[in-house]
Amino acid sequence: MADRKLTIPEGGFWPAPEVPQPNIYPMEWHVDTQKLVDIYEKSKRVVWNPADLPWDGLRPEDFTVEQRLGIMYWFSVLANFDASGPAVFARATIQAFEKHEEDPVRKCFFSITRDEMNHEECCQRTIAKLWPGGPLDWEPKTDLEKAAHNNIGWLYHNGGRYWTGYNTAVGRYTLPVLFTSFMMGEMAASTLFRGMASGTTHPVFGEMFQRIGRDESRHLQICMTILENEWPGLTDDTRELITKQLRAGFVFLSMILWEPPEGFWDLPPYFLANHRILMSYARDAGLGILSFDEQADNWRVAMARVRAIVERWGIAFPAIPELDIDGVDVSDIDPEDIIPVF
Ligand SMILES: [Fe+2]
Ligand SMILES: [Fe+2]
Repeated sequence: MADRKLTIPEGGFWPAPEVPQPNIYPMEWHVDTQKLVDIYEKSKRVVWNPADLPWDGLRPEDFTVEQRLGIMYWFSVLANFDASGPAVFARATIQAFEKHEEDPVRKCFFSITRDEMNHEECCQRTIAKLWPGGPLDWEPKTDLEKAAHNNIGWLYHNGGRYWTGYNTAVGRYTLPVLFTSFMMGEMAASTLFRGMASGTTHPVFGEMFQRIGRDESRHLQICMTILENEWPGLTDDTRELITKQLRAGFVFLSMILWEPPEGFWDLPPYFLANHRILMSYARDAGLGILSFDEQADNWRVAMARVRAIVERWGIAFPAIPELDIDGVDVSDIDPEDIIPVF
């Protein structure tokens, strides 16, 4: 076979029609940013399996009923963010293919999708172990249980609003806008899990939070690397939109990092009071939830880091009066502006 030459029939070639874009075809693998290649390689080497956490050490009988409910509640709140991760990044991955982003951008998105699937599995497994049927498929009996069940329903009602918004936003927003939101989410996530890994007294949660925190830091690194490519070409319009996105990110992420700010989340008036009670049971259980003031301090530090990053690129930071942070007033946020990501 090796020495046999086959002849192409004569008659010329018809050029293939050009593929209308956006489209995942034609296939290609161009690389502009070596650093993203390196991060992707690293992400493959550090993959972990949530099933291998020492689950036998998480025993329902080690907690009171209220504590178990509190932990289930916290993981249900976390799931509003972390369990949206796979779908959010899977869609972003498809988007990156359709827009022919460089190959390592697509691969890094894929790796975030992979990691987020592990994070949501942690929510799933913890809830299955401590509160079978949770978050919502169980019959609440006591007042506390009814409060938890009802709050979770309201929370997911809001999550659903943001998902609808994201589906339209992902095609509408340019990469820098989308990525600023991702970057806020990853900054928040790495801050949260670092705090909780040091606060928890339970070995299963300790290992879980440490591993998730490490993933989130890598996600942050991916976002920062992509943004450093994108930010130099910003227009003033985009800068303004990013300022707004930063405020939207604060509003959205505060639900898990701290407490939801007034006036945006669509919640019944009793939500926050019940939320606080459930959170305090989870805190008592040794989950590692920091105090209100410690959470505020961590959130403030994370915001200061984001601020330092974006101001280098001439992007104004929004005012966050809830944390005594001054800046540009941004008050007109609607669900369409929220890019739900963690
Ligand atoms: Fe995550
Ligand atoms: Fe993440």
